Amino acid sequence: MGLRREMKASRCLTVATALLTLVALKAYIEWGIEQDERSPSLHGWQGSAINPTQSLFDELPAFVLQQFNTSLQRLRQNIPKAKAYWNEKQHQMFQQLEQGEAGNASRKECSGPGAADRAAKIKDFDAYPELYRNFVLYDECRNFSLVINQPNKCSNAKNRTFLLLAIKSLPGNFAARQTVRDTWGQEGEPGGLPVRTVFLLGAAQGHYGPSLQHLVAYESRTFGDILMWDFEDTFFNLTLKDFLFLSWTLDYCRDVRFILKGDDDVFINTPKVLEFLGSLEAHKLLYTGQVMANASPFRARKSKYFVPESYYVGPYPAYAGGGGYIFSGSLIHWLHHVSQHIAFYPIDDVYTGLCFKALGIRPEAHPGFQTFDIAEKDRSNPCVHSKLLLVHRRSPQETVQLWKQITDPNLQC
Ligand SMILES: *[C@@H]1O[C@H](CO)[C@@H](O)[C@H](O)[C@H]1NC(C)=O
Ligand SMILES: *[C@@H]1O[C@H](CO)[C@@H](O)[C@H](O)[C@H]1NC(C)=O
Ligand SMILES: *[C@@H]1O[C@H](CO)[C@@H](O)[C@H](O)[C@H]1NC(C)=O
Ligand SMILES: *[C@@H]1O[C@H](CO)[C@@H](O)[C@H](O)[C@H]1NC(C)=O
Ligand SMILES: *[C@@H]1O[C@H](CO)[C@@H](O)[C@H](O)[C@H]1NC(C)=O
Repeated sequence: MGLRREMKASRCLTVATALLTLVALKAYIEWGIEQDERSPSLHGWQGSAINPTQSLFDELPAFVLQQFNTSLQRLRQNIPKAKAYWNEKQHQMFQQLEQGEAGNASRKECSGPGAADRAAKIKDFDAYPELYRNFVLYDECRNFSLVINQPNKCSNAKNRTFLLLAIKSLPGNFAARQTVRDTWGQEGEPGGLPVRTVFLLGAAQGHYGPSLQHLVAYESRTFGDILMWDFEDTFFNLTLKDFLFLSWTLDYCRDVRFILKGDDDVFINTPKVLEFLGSLEAHKLLYTGQVMANASPFRARKSKYFVPESYYVGPYPAYAGGGGYIFSGSLIHWLHHVSQHIAFYPIDDVYTGLCFKALGIRPEAHPGFQTFDIAEKDRSNPCVHSKLLLVHRRSPQETVQLWKQITDPNLQC
């Protein structure tokens, strides 16, 4: 796996270069953007040209390193030095980075006595909801094996995969996945642009329910679009799912132009998405969706997004809502790298926002993404949907109906 190769490489970094490595990511990107205007041929570092076994940073000019350092320091300053678990942990990680320690991201001993020691630092740990306690105890575990793979997902198209739809699903959501396959998630090459779909799943062996392993294995053989890892598929493991997906993409789909990461209960107007992506300039670095700006943690215990005060204090970076957002495939390598140095956060889209922020990339708001849904009166109106890119959420029945309507050439709006 790319992860292990990177671990080896990063251990070799000296005190100075560890920070510089991270610092260089963002700067190299900006550098790329600047160069682009003058000479597009300098864009060899994008997409397939990246080889994770070689150091990317050997020939970076000093001003590039400088720029990247700035974005990292900015993130660091935005995280209050408060006595809260995540804040302390992240500041320690920044410090280690500065002192040249490589990320401990996938070390084996992730949930042993060390984890319990860390948890003991949280004064009200015992009062945390059980899933939260589990999150804290396992938040350094990043090494899970892929039990169902689709190694040829991206290589079986003649042309470079243009859009990869990476859909977070749960083992039991068979109907939602079939709906996606039958409607907006159909694989193909519309207009010569290869579109591919994968569903991201955790384990199906059933600690808390029936074992769905055989059914999911059958589904995978039939449709060839399931990726499954052997971790428990819970809400708080979605950050882990994101991280493992980045690893997978590095290994099996590194050429991809754009990735749409979304839930299995959204409605996506794929033709409109392709039209939008096709209209972008060739080397645009994209991170777009519905942007949550100036958000901060929910303190209501009943909320799905509850964050205890003893866990995290501070604002959230601007981030694209996790119901569905799009980013450039050329950022996969940088995201994967930077995520080694950002502590897992229980809310996956906030975590993604933190990683982008560390790279100095802001999310761009696009009004076509409606992750909180649209006005009630418009929810079954095909004309409204034909102008949107993505809306959350629609039932399988509604999705099938809407899809039929918006793809009907006789639709009058
Ligand atoms: C990064 O920036 C900080 C403050 O802006 C500075 O103290 C530090 O020396 C810089 N590090 C590198 C490697 O440039
Ligand atoms: C990372 O690993 C090193 C060596 O195993 C250890 O000294 C350090 O404390 C670890 N860092 C974290 C954040 O656990
Ligand atoms: C990750 O897990 C695999 C097997 O599940 C193991 O062989 C490998 O050593 C682990 N890697 C790390 C870095 O812990
Ligand atoms: C591959 O892309 C080229 C242009 O980028 C296009 O002309 C060609 O039709 C595409 N091939 C397929 C099989 O779609
Ligand atoms: C995440 O998955 C791991 C591995 O299955 C599990 O031990 C852990 O409890 C899960 N975390 C949460 C918060 O559910």
